[in-house]
Amino acid sequence: MKTKAVETVTQNHRLPRDIRAQLRASHAGEFGAVWIYRGILLVNTLRGDKALASFAKEHMAAEKEHLAAYEEIIHEYRGSFLLLVWAVAGFLTGAFPALFGRNWVYYTIFCVESFVDKHYREQLQMFDVQNAPLIVSFRASMRSFHADEVHHRDEALNAMSRRPTALMRLWGKLIGMGSSVAVKIAQVI
Ligand SMILES: [Fe+2]
Ligand SMILES: [Fe+2]
Repeated sequence: MKTKAVETVTQNHRLPRDIRAQLRASHAGEFGAVWIYRGILLVNTLRGDKALASFAKEHMAAEKEHLAAYEEIIHEYRGSFLLLVWAVAGFLTGAFPALFGRNWVYYTIFCVESFVDKHYREQLQMFDVQNAPLIVSFRASMRSFHADEVHHRDEALNAMSRRPTALMRLWGKLIGMGSSVAVKIAQVI
């Protein structure tokens, strides 16, 4: 009987399924974001672009903070089973453009963060109508992360010294498509 009562309490306190799915996808996203910068920084050790290194290090520090906040409440939703996949995907998303120099990287970050901006806006609409105390307090953090991402996007765009080439735009489209597929998968697995 006691076990049943505990179970009921636990279940009642469980966050709604769709909210848990959103948190899982965001955790995976922030995790992947850290790996994007690891990819950039590793390739950049060969190129030695100091401006790019400081850009990447600064952004990576913010992504690590975001990730830590999602990890702090991970018991509330369960992380994605595919973290290894998100690490590899993130790493390649950073390493590939870094082979072609800083404009490619800045444009990549601009595209990634444009996607993240839209995604955070949609999520916040969902989270705003929730009244679970955890969500009420956590959405304030999400709002500040969202502001960071928008800042990252604008910073990347402003850092570009020329317009993106057709090939870069194609890469950007791939990033957008890949990100939305990744989010859908990470919500479930
Ligand atoms: Fe982030
Ligand atoms: Fe970011």
